[in-house]
Amino acid sequence: MPEKTNKLSDPSGRGRVDGYRVIFPMMQHPYTEAEIQAVTDVMRHAEGQTQGARLEKFEADFAAFVGAKHAFAVNNCTNALKLAAIFCRIRPGDEIIAPGYTYMASVVPFGDLGAKIVWADIHPKTWTIDPDDIERKITPNTKAILAVHLLGLPCDMRRIMAIAEKRGIKVVEDCAQAMDCRVDGRHVGTFGDFGCFSFHAAKTMTTLGEGGMIVVRDDETAKLAPGIRHNGLCAFEGERERYWVPAMSNVESFMDGQWPQNFCIGEAQCALGSEQLKSVVANNEILIDQDRRIRAALADVGELAFPEVVPGGRYVVHQYVLHYDGSAIGKRRNDLLDLVTRKYGVRCITQYYPLYRYPLFQKMGMGGHDCPVLDKWWDDSFSLPWWCGIDGESMSIMTGGLRSAAAELRAGAADGAGAASGAGA
Ligand SMILES: Cc1ncc(COP(=O)(O)O)c(C=O)c1O
Repeated sequence: MPEKTNKLSDPSGRGRVDGYRVIFPMMQHPYTEAEIQAVTDVMRHAEGQTQGARLEKFEADFAAFVGAKHAFAVNNCTNALKLAAIFCRIRPGDEIIAPGYTYMASVVPFGDLGAKIVWADIHPKTWTIDPDDIERKITPNTKAILAVHLLGLPCDMRRIMAIAEKRGIKVVEDCAQAMDCRVDGRHVGTFGDFGCFSFHAAKTMTTLGEGGMIVVRDDETAKLAPGIRHNGLCAFEGERERYWVPAMSNVESFMDGQWPQNFCIGEAQCALGSEQLKSVVANNEILIDQDRRIRAALADVGELAFPEVVPGGRYVVHQYVLHYDGSAIGKRRNDLLDLVTRKYGVRCITQYYPLYRYPLFQKMGMGGHDCPVLDKWWDDSFSLPWWCGIDGESMSIMTGGLRSAAAELRAGAADGAGAASGAGA
């Protein structure tokens, strides 16, 4: 067993832990010189540090990249989702249908405005929100459906849009993990009413650790975005003889009863964002190739399953989740990880814990759920350490460790040594 020489200081469970041979990095890939230059140029030459030409350029570049008409940069994806929730006019008593399998920030902005979160199950093969379960859970109070393209796996957007459009329900797409993820060539985030993206440090592209973008489909809603994003600031209407009267700028209410927010992002981050966009596709190709290699190396380990991608979908492999089915030999995910982590030194993690199991959601009255597929599947799923450009040695430690661990569990069971054990999630 590898010896741990320091304490786990990061409550996310992803921080540096000595003694393991392969761990999760805190960032996907290092900055290029061009990216560093873009940031230092702002430090040296920008007239203002916010609300300037780099913001405009980044929004235009991003809109062109995803094929959207309107894109607004913000300080993180959680606040992009908050803007979406505001534009959906979420009020107490409204319901949103969201997958139980996602990161908490997907739903908290909706809960914060008083929505009841109705948990939808995942599809057993694609591991994304199950359109049939969405249909089952729609009520007269359903205001929005949240499609999360988690792990870089596209949701079944054709079906979700058909379900929503028939009933006049809004669709918000959480694309935090889905840069360059597409269905039939169309970028996710452009199917629904809103698409929300993250440029957090662990994402495919990052704007100095934090950042986000909201893509808005409707022209009228897009007009509201700059004011709601920036404290209600706007110009006074018409010409003024004295520009300073009554004040330099106006503060307006753009939506009845809705306070504006400040979700702005700085110029240096926007300059970096425009640069980072240039390498998204190439980096994803590296991730997709890594996935191909892992699938090939583990093809004959029958207990392991990989996600299936919806027809026409481009899976950009943002995280590497696998499922272990050792039921035939009375083994569970935790038995496998005991070996893979402790004996082979691969620091696997388990994520994303079904949100309704967390104390936060239970305390907020959102612990109730009916998601049998997710409940069964999750207790046997796990993530491999994952980054763009995994070296050959780390790759073979991971695949070799998994193969050996699965074989040892099989052999142990055949010897009658392995009694069934619980998942203990
Ligand atoms: C699926 C998902 N949604 C939303 C978010 C929130 O993004 P941010 O950290 O930019 O607020 C994340 C970030 O990890 C995420 O993975």
